[in-house]
Amino acid sequence: MKGIQILVVDYGSQYTLVIGRTLRELGVRSVILPPKKADVWLKENNPKAVILSGSNWSVHNTGAPGLPKSLDLNGEKYFILGVCYGMQLLAHKLGGKVERPLLHREYGPAIVNLTAKHPLWVGVPKKTTVWASHGDTVSNLPKGFTPIAKSGGFAAMTNKNNRMLGVQFHPEVADTKEGKKILQNFLNLANCQKDWDPVNLIHQIQKEVLGIVKGKEKVILGVSGGVDSTTLAAVLTPILKDRLICVAIDTGGLRQDEMAELKANTKSAGIKNLKIITASDEFRKNIGTTIDGEEKRAQFRKIYKKIFAEQIKKYRADFIAQGTLATDIIESGQVGKSAMIKTHHNVGLKWKVEDLHPFRNLFKYEVRELARALKLPRAVYERNPFPGPGLYLRVVGTPVSKENIELVREADKAVNEIIKKHNLEKEISQLIVALLGINSVGVKGDERVYGHSLAIRAVQTVDFMTAKGYYFSEEIVNEITSALTKHKGIVRVFFDMTPKPPATTEFE
Ligand code: XMP
Repeated sequence: MKGIQILVVDYGSQYTLVIGRTLRELGVRSVILPPKKADVWLKENNPKAVILSGSNWSVHNTGAPGLPKSLDLNGEKYFILGVCYGMQLLAHKLGGKVERPLLHREYGPAIVNLTAKHPLWVGVPKKTTVWASHGDTVSNLPKGFTPIAKSGGFAAMTNKNNRMLGVQFHPEVADTKEGKKILQNFLNLANCQKDWDPVNLIHQIQKEVLGIVKGKEKVILGVSGGVDSTTLAAVLTPILKDRLICVAIDTGGLRQDEMAELKANTKSAGIKNLKIITASDEFRKNIGTTIDGEEKRAQFRKIYKKIFAEQIKKYRADFIAQGTLATDIIESGQVGKSAMIKTHHNVGLKWKVEDLHPFRNLFKYEVRELARALKLPRAVYERNPFPGPGLYLRVVGTPVSKENIELVREADKAVNEIIKKHNLEKEISQLIVALLGINSVGVKGDERVYGHSLAIRAVQTVDFMTAKGYYFSEEIVNEITSALTKHKGIVRVFFDMTPKPPATTEFE
């Protein structure tokens, strides 16, 4: 993640991801992290600016998230902009006062009067409409800060050298009329350069790879048909041509029709010669020895590694390339010493040849933009993610067997068809159908049966660092439940809407 100019500290506001998107629209990349991970990241990176997001917390509540411990509150290392809760948190920590007055709560559009000339306000009319959503407000500014805008109370503040700023409203929201201009002004103040241009990025990646892979050297690339590996194949094919060997593994954990989709997707990425290895029995036998998610991943990694090591040898490859993303690296605890959440099956594997992770600095939404710039079909750039270990992670609390993998595969297909029929694909970032290891009593055709339980989980997210559980309508809940319980072995269907955190996207 070297070279990222902006860190957005995510306090859980529904608008945090919009900050990232707006910055990208302004041509600047950012990394969005919750406070603890932001703390680790800050120790190892030199951003030009830090934006503290909004939140539904009050700074006075027990357990309210604080500033990253390593945040430079002297305003020397980078510029800081607190947005809503972010401004309140700054004010609170720096000795100001945050209160919950009855009269100055703002929810929705509000009028702000700019009361001072300030670099943040370049080109913004003196009176402007903003989007606000706060119960708390800063009633006393910290020492050394002055107000630069007012609505009912202080709408914006700055310290003396304009390096620490706060706005009580949400500049990232489209309803803040001059919001984009204000964020652009902040980027100018922090001297951020444009660094987000998909076509340029593709060229940079190609140049970087060609700088490493010389002459006749060959690269093996594992492809899964997903957005990351397909896009990577499309980035590498034009520069490496026949020196790129694409390998797909049928692990036995694939969904219905997935191999056919994989073939179609890789073809669209320009791959003519795809090698397919079938290893379902080997994967299933080994993964079926445990019910522990991390051990399953360890088993998966072991076989995955073995197969690729064989392919490297067979094709005398000099490098192995993988579509690992920044999120995979962060989630696997490879950034600093952040706590390990989950091992990703392809992060941190040691090979006899050098491994290349050309997308290691990118987030999923950025890879989707690259795919779009490469003119890959919609089926690729809009594709929902699916974990490498696949359905093996979706048999939870009971050992994987041929039968129960088949059952989740069928159930997954049935639920996906319902989602498609109701045009809900766009609303959902990822859908998980899992078989739970809880058998329970049901009644079918006047008979007591003892059968399986399934869990359905749909999430909405942009970068999978955080996610919201998706609430299906009653109609869809009934349709899914009815479709699944038609299967003789299924008696119960649970719906899981827990956000991430505290849950993760997958069940294990
Ligand atoms: P979690 O469950 O950590 O998942 O919130 C975030 C995203 O990563 C996917 N995921 C994986 N992908 N290998 C992968 O290739 C894995 O071991 C793995 N574990 C989780 C998950 O499906 C979600 O999209």
